[in-house]
Amino acid sequence: MRKIAVLNQKGGVGKTTTVVNTAAALAAMGSKVVVIDLDPQAHLTIHLGLEPETTEAGSYKILTQSAKFEEEILLVRPNLWLLPANIDLVGAESELVSVVGRETILRETVRTVEDNFDYLFIDCAPSLGLLTLNALAAADEVLIPLQPHFLALQGLGKLLQTVELVNKRINPALQVTGVLLCMFDSRASLPNEVRADIERFFNDARGTDCAWSDAKILPAYIRRNIKLAEAPSYGKTIFEYEQNCHGAEDYKKVAEFIHTHSQLSAKSTTDSLAPPSVGGAV
Ligand SMILES: Nc1ncnc2c1ncn2[C@@H]1O[C@H](COP(=O)(O)OP(=O)(O)OP(=O)(O)O)[C@@H](O)[C@H]1O
Ligand SMILES: [Mg+2]
Repeated sequence: MRKIAVLNQKGGVGKTTTVVNTAAALAAMGSKVVVIDLDPQAHLTIHLGLEPETTEAGSYKILTQSAKFEEEILLVRPNLWLLPANIDLVGAESELVSVVGRETILRETVRTVEDNFDYLFIDCAPSLGLLTLNALAAADEVLIPLQPHFLALQGLGKLLQTVELVNKRINPALQVTGVLLCMFDSRASLPNEVRADIERFFNDARGTDCAWSDAKILPAYIRRNIKLAEAPSYGKTIFEYEQNCHGAEDYKKVAEFIHTHSQLSAKSTTDSLAPPSVGGAV
């Protein structure tokens, strides 16, 4: 099972949108996919069509070790399972403060279903607190959605430092494997400057033993697309809401890229996919 934490402590950059639609595309391609909502906002749960008020607090129960993973996951689409969240998750960080091994509870549980799925995606909250540490301890890969505006790189250093700490202390397998540019508008020059800055930064780390030495910007971008913003309020994936739009096209490419690369950072074809054509929102 590939275990991918989708993380950026900046809010509203496209984490949840990326988890929902990449997972949905992979499930439609025949992979067995499980997604974990590790954000007390429960946006992933809502986006997949559930109401957190009437949904059991799946991820909270897992973190407080009061239920088993396979008892709490829900089949929400063919091949796609969800460990849901609700507001109870807000309390988890403080409740776990005195629990020994609190950073690795999720990892221990995920290990029990290692052979049951092809992909696990964790939708992280916009924070670097204990919930996110649990995600990083459980994952092998970190995918960072990033909105390429001029403040985008602010905060990236802190995020990478956190990943590095987890890599060195708790989870040696953890690597930052990819940055996914979200809400990309290639008509503007700034995104290309931000992109070049990140590439330079990653290139400087090649050959070192830091946790992002193989990181790449994914060749598939997510264009700004109004349909992607509308779909969550209907509880639908982009493929259910409007399958012929830029958003659906772009997330399908991301899923295909992930599926054909054993790691997001696999080097061979990262430069062979052309960026999507320039265009406005559909
Ligand atoms: N490519 C896109 N084009 C237009 N709107 C988008 C796009 N991607 C995401 N959105 C919208 O932007 C908002 C933020 O996206 P999303 O919820 O995925 O971000 P997030 O990083 O998960 O946020 P949070 O940090 O609050 O969890 C949502 O309203 C979403 O529908
Ligand atoms: Mg989110």
